[in-house]
Amino acid sequence: MSSRDLWHGARIERTEALCADIRLFEIALPAGAEPWRPGAHLGVRVRCGDVTEGRHYSLLDLGRANDRYRIAVKRIDDGLGGSRYLWSLAAGDSVEISQPQNDFELGLDAPSYLLLAGGIGVTPLLSMAHALVRRNVPVAFHYAVRSREEAVFVALLRSWLGDRLHLHVSAEGSRLDVEGMIRACRQDAELYVCGPVGMLAATRTAWQAAGRSVDHLRFESFASGGRAANRPFTAALPRYGLELAVSAQQSLLSALETAGVEVLSGCRRGECGLCAVDVLDCDAPLDHRDVFLGDAEKAAGSRLCTCVSRPVGGRIVIDTDYRGQPAAPAA
Ligand code: FES
Repeated sequence: MSSRDLWHGARIERTEALCADIRLFEIALPAGAEPWRPGAHLGVRVRCGDVTEGRHYSLLDLGRANDRYRIAVKRIDDGLGGSRYLWSLAAGDSVEISQPQNDFELGLDAPSYLLLAGGIGVTPLLSMAHALVRRNVPVAFHYAVRSREEAVFVALLRSWLGDRLHLHVSAEGSRLDVEGMIRACRQDAELYVCGPVGMLAATRTAWQAAGRSVDHLRFESFASGGRAANRPFTAALPRYGLELAVSAQQSLLSALETAGVEVLSGCRRGECGLCAVDVLDCDAPLDHRDVFLGDAEKAAGSRLCTCVSRPVGGRIVIDTDYRGQPAAPAA
């Protein structure tokens, strides 16, 4: 969990199925919700097997009074278990949450904006779209989904954006053309994108190939899945004489923390690189799910972002950047 997370007891006020695998949660604090800015997220404590971990979910602006926090959680059946835990909760249940934090802040001084959402990555962009529409700033919004059912916020976005909303439904053959989208947007536009790692990588490549400034590209990922399903594996740390069994429901970062190994972390989404470790050996393929390491580093297989990436089973031998001795294992 991020060192910024201070946990508070809260209550689930209401849940609502938005589609078969996306559920809205409304969360209230006795003292009321703190104000937050577009792009902010909320930390939520979840139980994954025997371990309690923090997850971050973007705060939703649904055009209603922000007197409570609203998040949308996509159920990932083969994920680490955070979404399954939240889906097990109902109205009236207690939950621990952090204060709102913002690592994906919307800058408000650009002449025009391009927002790009992939699937559940729409969540932080809702508040941005609403803020920009209210300021009457030029904005185009591209919303890419696999099926129309997945486009759970399309009606709300249409009401705010009208024909500035472009929906791309791959099951209906209307795939997003990233290069065309970038060509069509103004040269002075800032691009905000949230979606799966592959979409971010393709967008970043196309943005740079079009000669656009990297300073005008902001992104947030969600590491919902890699190339392979999660499998248990063993992690060896010769420096500490440790051999850890990492379950399919646990990240390597969480296993290290539980064992008392002090490893740095930040975003826990594969973006900042703070949790990266050296890979000394591995007898299974590595499933890189981060957007921090470059293609060459991923191909070399010598570094791994432990918050999201993992070997596909087998045994991995690693060394952490942090050279402290292991603390007492977490209870
Ligand atoms: S904590 Fe940021 S990449 Fe892992």
